[in-house]
Parts: sequence; C-alpha cells; structure tokens
Amino acid sequence: MQVDNLHLKIISDSRGKSTLEAEMESEGISVISSVPSGKSTGKGEALSIDPEKALAKIDWIKSQLKGHEFATLDQFDNLLITLDGTPDKSRLGANLILVLSIAFTKLLAKKGNMEIYELIAKLSDSVPVAPRCFFNVINGGLHSKNSLPFQEYIFVPENNSPKKNLEEVMVVIKNLEDIITKKYGNLRQGDEGGYEVPENDPKIGLEILSEASSAIGGSRLAMDVAASTFYQDGKYDVGGKIMSSDELLSYYQLLTQNYKLLSIEDPFAEDNWEGFTKITKELGEKIWIIGDDLTTTNVKSIKRAYEKNAINGVIIKPNQIGSVSETLQAVNLAKNYGWKIIVSHRSGETMDTFIADLAVGVSADGLKSGCPLQKERLVKYQRLEEIESRIKNNE
Ligand code: PGA
Ligand code: ZN
Repeated sequence: MQVDNLHLKIISDSRGKSTLEAEMESEGISVISSVPSGKSTGKGEALSIDPEKALAKIDWIKSQLKGHEFATLDQFDNLLITLDGTPDKSRLGANLILVLSIAFTKLLAKKGNMEIYELIAKLSDSVPVAPRCFFNVINGGLHSKNSLPFQEYIFVPENNSPKKNLEEVMVVIKNLEDIITKKYGNLRQGDEGGYEVPENDPKIGLEILSEASSAIGGSRLAMDVAASTFYQDGKYDVGGKIMSSDELLSYYQLLTQNYKLLSIEDPFAEDNWEGFTKITKELGEKIWIIGDDLTTTNVKSIKRAYEKNAINGVIIKPNQIGSVSETLQAVNLAKNYGWKIIVSHRSGETMDTFIADLAVGVSADGLKSGCPLQKERLVKYQRLEEIESRIKNNE
C-alpha cells in the first residue's frame, strides 16, 4: 500500500490542550486518527513533541513516504522509527509517529474491507473478544484538584457485554452523585470525568464506590494508585500520612480483605521493584497486580518486570511506546507470560476510538477508558457496543 496523501492538523483534547489529528489517503480511501496525552506519565515513556513542531516536520515525512510501497504495518512503522533514529522517539515525536501509525493501520483495514479490530486480531493472532469495562468513576491524584491521593477508583461489571455494562455504570454514577452530594454538598469532576471526593484517606473512595455499586451483582472494584505521584525519598505521602513500602503493602492487604477488589494498578512507585515483587507474592493469587508507569508498553521493561516477578498484568497504551506494531509486540510478550492485559486511554483524550478496536482485536481482559460522562471516554465504550453487535451478527 502507498500513502498518496497526508494532512496533519492541531485539535484540542479533553483538557483543551493541543494534540495531533492526521488524515491519510491511499487510492481514494481516507481515514482520520488522533492521539491522546498523559499527565501521570512513566519515566520510560517515548517522548511527544510540541504539535506545532510536528506540523513543521510533516512535509519532510511526506517526501520520505512518497513512492514507498508498504506490504505490512511493520514496514511502515519501521520506516518512521528509522527516520526518527532515537531510542525515545524524541526527534519526530511519539505523538507524530503514533498518529501516522494508527492512520496507516486504519487504512490497511479499510482497504482490506475489514473492521479495525479484525485486522488487529489477524496481526496479533487472536480471536476478537469484548474486554471487561474498567470505568474510572472517582478521580483523585494528579487528575483532580482536591480529591483522594489514589488516582482512580474503578467500577468493573462482571460480564463483558459492553451494552449491559454501560447501563450498569450509569446506575452506579447516579448513586455516586446522590452519595457525594449528600455528604459534601457539591459535585466536581476530575480529568477523566469521574467525581472528586474531598478526603485524604484512600479507603473512603472504595467505601463510597462499594456503596454506589452494591446493587450490581457480581461487579468488582479496581484502583489505579499511580503511586509514583506521591513517592519521595523512599516514602509514600498518602494524603499526609507518611508510609514505608511495607506499610503501604499492609494497607493494600487490608483493602483487599475488605473490598471486592479485582485489580490494583501501580501500587508502588516505578523504581520500587521490591515493593512490586512483594505485593505480587502476597496478593498475586487473589487479585491482578498491574504495571503501568512500571512497564510503559515497552518490551524491555515488560521483560524486566517478568524476571523480577513484579506483576501479573499490564496496562497497554499505544502512546507510551509510539507505534501500533510495537504496541502489539508488547501485548504478545505479556500474553506469553500469561499476564492480564488492560488496554487504556490517557487522561487527555480525543474522540478517536482506536483503542476499543485494539482491546477487542488483541482479546484484552479489560478496556480502561475513564468515566462515560465525558464524551471522549463514552465513544470508546460505544464503539465496544457496536463491535459487540457486529460479532453477534456474524455468529
Ligand atoms: P495519565 O494517567 O494518562 O495521566 O498518564 C492514566 C494512568 O495512569 O493510567
Ligand atoms: Zn496508570
């Protein structure tokens, strides 16, 4: 496939920040893609560049793509990775490379008369399956102004019917609104559309979410602690309470006994390997211990985490690594390890629904896309619904 035409423009993400949108064309068929950005980023993430600088590079990239025949997605991504030539994609920018890589993936699917998830399933040797929805309905940490120290409190319905899941989460959100308004007088949303809870004690978030979801049978709770964001000099500042790594582990053990937790993401700071290894040993049989900042969708870090027995599941975010083919390599490796896979959005999102197709295509265990009160989050869950009915009709 050749790329005949390419346009790049700057759009606003859900936080009102500039990001990139690409339109790519081949033989009269065209597609559009856009990329998100994170706020609680891992140190190992590929680097994005200022969207204005990306615009200035596009003519040169077009000249390099001109006349090139790409037989596969790998070939396309490899050319961009070679043109960039840096280990962290800082020359062309992970945002620029990824927006083109996603567009190329969409174009490949469209030209092959396939849905995007079908192409991804083929590329990753998977059978498409709907993931469980991880709805982040209480926002804390860096994604809030005056809320809990842990970043995300997540409602996870039992079954993986996206249509039913959306109905259930709307009930939970309504209950949360009642509980929070009654207790604190007003409602404020964080970056991912979930509500803020003006408290310092992390377990209050679980308490409130348990109450709001108690009527939904079989449902579970999950947390993204994003512990790197409150770690300093070997200690954790948990809402003003200073804890050692071992004290934090005991706290997680208590939470796991008292609440119906399915998973904990980034329970420790990304440098605290010992903490990860301990929690996986202590709680890994009961719950999913998920790496995000720890692993940054990077095969090298994923391998390291495996060698250290640090986790049993991983967050997959294409923009942490900066291309679709490398994202698929990360998923494949983690699957070989028998780990759980959760595909995730970023806290600054766009209307692109690519990650929903990615989650289904690689048969991920979960899709984490924030709170459906925000339209950039909702569209991903709605795309899951659409895929669900397609898969049903094909059966
Ligand atoms: P981010 O946070 O997109 O702001 O990095 C999401 C996460 O930590 O999972
Ligand atoms: Zn995270």
